[in-house]
Amino acid sequence: MRIDIITVLPELLDSPFAHSILKRGRQKGIIEVNVIPLREFATNKYKSVDDYAFGGAAGMVMMCEPIANCIDHLKLQRNYDEVIYLTPDGELFSQAMANQLSLKGNLIMLCGHYKGVDERIRQHYITKEISIGDYVLSGGELAAAVVSDAILRLVPGVMNDETSALTDSFQDGLLSPPVYTRPAEFRGIRVPEILLSGHEKNINEWKHQQSLERTAHRRPDLFAKYHS
Ligand code: ADE
Repeated sequence: MRIDIITVLPELLDSPFAHSILKRGRQKGIIEVNVIPLREFATNKYKSVDDYAFGGAAGMVMMCEPIANCIDHLKLQRNYDEVIYLTPDGELFSQAMANQLSLKGNLIMLCGHYKGVDERIRQHYITKEISIGDYVLSGGELAAAVVSDAILRLVPGVMNDETSALTDSFQDGLLSPPVYTRPAEFRGIRVPEILLSGHEKNINEWKHQQSLERTAHRRPDLFAKYHS
């Protein structure tokens, strides 16, 4: 899978894909992340990518031309399954959406800045708009990193068995159970005895019960969906 991220702040995306699971996935050649500085596609001598809003609203708007030029340029090289715009008024991101997007081949992500992008870009180029939550970030970069991370780790071969996504919170609609490591006793607090028993069936039942209790307590909204 390949993700091309269009941004006015490429430096912000230097680190998120350069470590741990995603770094290994990139080294194995299974996933590719390409950060594209939007300013390279600016057309005037000042390399502008934003301009005043028509109608006198406060704040700047990202201009059509650099974005259109950039997306056209990318599309000449390959086909894209989705052109995603990260924006607080997009569809709320979820594990289900990450699962679906992880099955795609090539994605473009456009990071918004200032007051957002000219509506004509949204209408004519963008195929999907995603929000990562009901709060406003200074730009779409961190949202693009969050969405890309959630998608890319699911691509087959990126994770090994140890880091398998199948047991993640949300994958079965429940939160994960608590986990413990050595020592079996820490400052007088013991690991639940059942986890030391070696009895796989009982352990799995215990984990499931813990997941149910945790979800019911912390996320009654998820719990209600799980039972419906
Ligand atoms: N850009 C600014 N805030 C955002 C959010 N909550 N989700 C996605 N993109 C954003």
